[in-house]
Amino acid sequence: MEVKPFYWKGDHLLLLDQKKLPREEVWLKLETYQDVAKAIKDMAVRGAPAIGCTAAYGFVLGVKEGENPEKVYETLKNTRPTAFNLFWALDRMMKALKEGKDIEEEARAIEREDYEANKKMGEFGNELILHKAKILTHCNTGALATAGWGTALGVIRSAHYSGKDIFVWVDETRPYLQGARLTAWELLKENIPHKIITDNTAGFLMKKGAVDLVIVGADRITARGDVANKIGTYTLAVLCKEHGIPFYVAAPTSTIDPNTERGEDIPIEERSEEEVKTCGGCLIALEDSPALHLAFDVTPAELITAIITEKGVFKPHEILRALKDQRFL
Ligand code: MRU
Repeated sequence: MEVKPFYWKGDHLLLLDQKKLPREEVWLKLETYQDVAKAIKDMAVRGAPAIGCTAAYGFVLGVKEGENPEKVYETLKNTRPTAFNLFWALDRMMKALKEGKDIEEEARAIEREDYEANKKMGEFGNELILHKAKILTHCNTGALATAGWGTALGVIRSAHYSGKDIFVWVDETRPYLQGARLTAWELLKENIPHKIITDNTAGFLMKKGAVDLVIVGADRITARGDVANKIGTYTLAVLCKEHGIPFYVAAPTSTIDPNTERGEDIPIEERSEEEVKTCGGCLIALEDSPALHLAFDVTPAELITAIITEKGVFKPHEILRALKDQRFL
């Protein structure tokens, strides 16, 4: 049975609460657009494509209950600032409404297309992965972060199911622990060989020759190919350069923001200090110690070997071509 993080039920959205994983599998029943906005803000659902899909269903719930579409759009839009898929999906929903289309069908199409894009990325990305590759990944980019299968983790999944004897190093991904809690949960379910490491282990493993490639997802890709992704991604890209290791990004074209040229212009979400000062609900620092919690960083195009999309594999500076045509390296 494939993992799916949400199910549309016609008059509500069933959502797997990712805050409770991996210990408990709790399903939330979201009946209003405000419920959906809260779930996105609180990170009960997270991962750029999954945020986009659930926001689309949130839009359907709001409009169906007779709320002003602009208000629904704004409320959902103001949940998280970095993941471009959120804005892409909401703009698409608003356009569909204005054109008199069936908005429920539009939301279903967004979900369906995301899943299909992931399977395509899996096929393209698999061609870059050698038999017995040792792959390092960061955050969670799997079925849980998408409409199913996953982006970077989808590529890993495709490589595994194509019969390659791959191994995955899973960065725990402080402070929200998407790697330790979510990626390891997905890999364990499917018996894909892996080990969780603390984020600061990556460099030493690279030095020892224990990492053949790094593959991560993206929250936003700019016109020049800079990539915003989970905090810690930039560090990995710099380490890859130092050690001569390929650094790949896998993301659907819905993550590409053609109107933002440079990574410096991407809004970076700052979350609560508490998420840094606690671990598993326990305070690990003094209450009075200040902390900084940037949820994302930006990796410049120059540090990225290639970007895998559903349209093919592109050099970062050529990424806008992915919106237009198909291109292979
Ligand atoms: O804060 P999160 O968990 O929403 O951040 C998720 C990531 O950074 C992912 O790498 C990105 O959204 C791509 S998910 C396919």
